[in-house]
Amino acid sequence: MRETRVSRIIKSEDLNHHGTLYAGRMAEWLVEACLITAINLTRKPEDVVCVRIHGFHFIRPATSGDVIEIRAKISYLGEKSITVDAKIHVNGEDAPSVTGMLTFVTVDRQGKPYAHGLALPQDYIEENRDIYEAAIEARKQR
Ligand SMILES: CC(C)(COP(=O)(O)OP(=O)(O)OC[C@H]1O[C@@H](n2cnc3c(N)ncnc32)[C@H](O)[C@@H]1OP(=O)(O)O)[C@@H](O)C(=O)NCCC(=O)NCCS
Repeated sequence: MRETRVSRIIKSEDLNHHGTLYAGRMAEWLVEACLITAINLTRKPEDVVCVRIHGFHFIRPATSGDVIEIRAKISYLGEKSITVDAKIHVNGEDAPSVTGMLTFVTVDRQGKPYAHGLALPQDYIEENRDIYEAAIEARKQR
C-alpha cells in the first residue's frame, strides 16, 4: 500500500483561460492522491495532516478529453513524517507532465505529532532511489 493510481478525464470545467488544464484543479487532484497514499499506509485517516507542499512542476499542458493518471508513491518515511512523490501522466505517456512532492505528519487527537513507527523496506528504497533521494534533499532544504 505504498502507491496510489488515480485516473481522470479532463473536462471543459477543468480548463483555464488558455484552454489547458487549470493548475489549481491539477494541484487539488494531486494533493488528494498523495493524501490517500499516506492514509493507505497509516490506515488512520484522522491522524494524517499535510505539513508541506514542496512544489509542483508543470512540465507540459494537458487539455479537454485527455486522460490523466496520477501516480502517487511514498518516497520517504521520517520518524513522524511521510513524504509522497506524485507524477501525472497524460494519455499513457511514459514521461510525466506534472511532478510534485508533499509531506504529511501523523498527529494525535490534540494535533500533536507522534512517531508512526513505519519504515520502508530496503528493496523498496533501492527500486525508488530517485524519489527517496529527492525527499532527503528536500529535508535538507528546510
Ligand atoms: C503538522 C504540524 C503538527 C507539525 O508541527 P511541528 O511542531 O512542526 O512538528 P515537529 O517539529 O514535531 O515535526 C514533526 C514532523 O514534521 C516535519 N516537519 C515539520 N515542519 C516541516 C516542514 N515545514 N516541511 C517538511 N517537514 C516538516 C518534521 O521534520 C517532523 O518529521 P520527522 O519526524 O520525519 O523529522 C503543525 O505544523 C500543524 O498542525 N500544521 C497544520 C497542519 C494542517 O492544518 N494541514 C492542512 C490540512 S491537512
